[in-house]
Amino acid sequence: MVVVTGGTGYIGSHTVVELLQAGYQVTILDDLSNSNIEVLDAIEELTGVRPEFFEVDLSDAAATASVFEQIGSEADSTIHFAAKKAVGESVQDPLLYYRNNLFSLVNVLEEMKKHDIRNFVFSSSCTVYGQPDVCPVTEATPRKEAESPYGNTKSMAEDIIRDASPVEHFNSISLRYFNPIGAHASGKIGELPVGIPNNLVPYVTQTAAGIRETLTVHGNDYPTADGTCIRDYIHVVDLAKAHLQALKRIEDGRMDSAYEVFNVGTGNGYSVLDVVNGFEEATGIKVNYRIGPRRAGDITQVWADTSLANEALNWKAELGLKEALSSSWNWEQNYRKQNA
Ligand code: UD1
Repeated sequence: MVVVTGGTGYIGSHTVVELLQAGYQVTILDDLSNSNIEVLDAIEELTGVRPEFFEVDLSDAAATASVFEQIGSEADSTIHFAAKKAVGESVQDPLLYYRNNLFSLVNVLEEMKKHDIRNFVFSSSCTVYGQPDVCPVTEATPRKEAESPYGNTKSMAEDIIRDASPVEHFNSISLRYFNPIGAHASGKIGELPVGIPNNLVPYVTQTAAGIRETLTVHGNDYPTADGTCIRDYIHVVDLAKAHLQALKRIEDGRMDSAYEVFNVGTGNGYSVLDVVNGFEEATGIKVNYRIGPRRAGDITQVWADTSLANEALNWKAELGLKEALSSSWNWEQNYRKQNA
């Protein structure tokens, strides 16, 4: 059985669907702070299975221990998504981020140790590279001083897992996600930002839906071809599948050491305007936008060298930018229809 923390969230829910479809048994732990319990209905509709669910704040050691007491003997793996992820909020409230993201990690690892659960996959981020000197970045590209407490929790979490894994006999993989976008083809699960979206694609789809008036492009004076920032946007379903491949690598005993790290991106960099134009081409809908000032903390460009994941995980991104954008739009429309 696989314990999926944060399993009702955006990336977690897509991964749960892939796991169930591949025949894994899944138990979800989530505090529902940034997700909705109805995601379980959607997962059940998609897979025919309703995973066991526990509402729990994993930064609370006693509550975490009590849940693992109930499920621990059946579990052999944990995929740990549960974390806060808003860069700006982390700058405003660093202690909230360190407490939530790091306490929960340590609590989960301690419970895994107690219940002899050895396989661990962790949600890391390309944020650990900061603004790299050279793109694409490989896993050997040095990490940089974090730009935000959020980014620092990912870097510190990687160190905690790296240090603990050989000692505690965990087999651990950190996946460094680039920019996840898109939604399940069914339109039944997707990204559900609370309030005004911080991230680009939810802002684009909400603008297209008329919920936001105008998208602000945060700066067009960067040293890139069109002046806007470049990111590696990866379809969330491709990303979900990378978790299954990571789990398989662990289960098959193919790891080279107790702790490994993989970039999970497409290998392609797209600018903000590429995303806006790609959305218009994919959906036929024009997005109102204006050019605004740069956003504090943004890096100019980053995209992944994915050769290590391609080889070692036998995984590669299969869906392109336009497929991702049209799936985001499909999800946005479906969601609005159902919640009108
Ligand atoms: C950031 C983090 C990433 C984290 C993610 C989750 C960094 C380097 N990256 O990604 O680790 O997982 O948030 O929240 O810290 N943009 C606009 N207008 C908008 C919104 C965004 O122009 O309204 C631009 C941004 O300036 C950026 C690009 O779109 O160039 C992508 O932004 P966003 O979706 O917020 O992701 P990141 O900042 O790359």
